[in-house]
Amino acid sequence: MDTKYLYIYTIGCQMNVYDSELFTRILAPSGYERTDELDDADLVIVNTCSIRQKAEEKAFSFLGRLVKHKKRKPGLIVGIGGCVAQQEGEKIIKRMPHVDLVFGTQVIPRLADHVAAIEKNRERVVDVSTIPLMDEIDPSDGPGEQTGISRFVTIMQGCDNYCTYCVVPFTRGRERSRPPEKIIAEIENLVENGVKEVTLLGQNVNSYGQKEGLCTFSELLAGINGIAGLERIRFATSHPKDLSDDLIEAYVTLEKLCKHIHLPVQSGSNHVLKKMNRRYTREIYLERIGKLRERCPDIAVTSDMIVGFPDESREDFNATLKLMKEVEFDSLFAFIYSDRPNAPAVRFSGKVDEQEQKARIKALLELQEYYSRKKSDAYLGRVEKILVEGVSRDQDRGKTDAHQWTGRTSSGKIVNFPAPDPDNEKAETYIGKTMDVRIEEIFANSLRGKVVS
Ligand code: 5AD
Ligand code: SF4
Repeated sequence: MDTKYLYIYTIGCQMNVYDSELFTRILAPSGYERTDELDDADLVIVNTCSIRQKAEEKAFSFLGRLVKHKKRKPGLIVGIGGCVAQQEGEKIIKRMPHVDLVFGTQVIPRLADHVAAIEKNRERVVDVSTIPLMDEIDPSDGPGEQTGISRFVTIMQGCDNYCTYCVVPFTRGRERSRPPEKIIAEIENLVENGVKEVTLLGQNVNSYGQKEGLCTFSELLAGINGIAGLERIRFATSHPKDLSDDLIEAYVTLEKLCKHIHLPVQSGSNHVLKKMNRRYTREIYLERIGKLRERCPDIAVTSDMIVGFPDESREDFNATLKLMKEVEFDSLFAFIYSDRPNAPAVRFSGKVDEQEQKARIKALLELQEYYSRKKSDAYLGRVEKILVEGVSRDQDRGKTDAHQWTGRTSSGKIVNFPAPDPDNEKAETYIGKTMDVRIEEIFANSLRGKVVS
């Protein structure tokens, strides 16, 4: 079989990164090898995100660029997958004559069949069926690129929460959890291939297994903690309404669970939280953070915030700033509210003026900069255990350097440091090792230190 080249452009969340790897595995038996060179590609897949308008625009702008590639190479197959494909379906084929395949988030197992049909008949295919087929895939079999120290593992899909701003329940469907045995088998396989850290993915990991009567999320974590050779466990994302005492205890009892929680709060105003259908109040959120910090004082807390949600008054926004002062997040992802198709908030009155939204996000980010810096400053002089992930792409200095390595603290902070043995430039010798590093300098997005062991 001749080798054909597959180029994947991934936009959006970690789940898309994981799915793009699935595309690679599923297409390998049909002779496709992944390439980083767009010009070499025989098949291009754009894995899209529709969480905000901007992400969707990014997908269409990349697809637009492919017109000239297809002119140059008429046999090129252009596919679009992910959330925008699920949401827009047939409309994409009508609007973009150079697109051959539109496949939704639930039908990834049919990808190879669709590509084969296109290769054979040059027919255009749209498949945005919502019958979940994902259980048919067993990512622990088949060829793949089982490399890297840190990998994502999807433990559940979809979401039943229907936050009023969010498109996910419409693009990813109902919540479904994968059986714990499959998840554990997948991680064992990764560990056999050198992986030391996994990040478990789901829209709302705290409700893992509840619907299907599997086990609880903390029981799943305990099972994964028992995998020999695995060193670190991370997860995303938790919903504050389901953050159980059990999970808080897991931070105390499971030595592999990293001391970091990403707990999106979205707003500090009870009025806005109610309109968002978040089903917790600022008081409940603060109580949960208090309990987490009481049981696990070193835990890093990060969050997501939406500004300029419909009907968010100045007073509501001030309540958000006040919550930020009370919590002191380690870092924060802030987004300007964006209308999304199907999401109920599209029809809400009281849309906030764009200039005002921009002014609010600016004020919020300025305040957060203070807390991010304060949290990072607290690391100065500390010795931290760093899992070496590779050669440093030093974001704060804008250069890549084989003598500079990179990894993260348990709390998730990026730490760059000089290779401990300057004669041995081979990063591979150290990749995957955990080293004690003393933190000596603090930058905006990373820390720098020196190995002490
Ligand atoms: N507008 C702005 N931000 C949004 N998010 C989700 N939907 C929207 C939207 N319509 C943000 C939330 C979520 C993060 C992944 O994206 O903060 O936690
Ligand atoms: Fe969207 Fe809310 Fe579900 Fe998160 S919990 S994916 S914000 S609906």
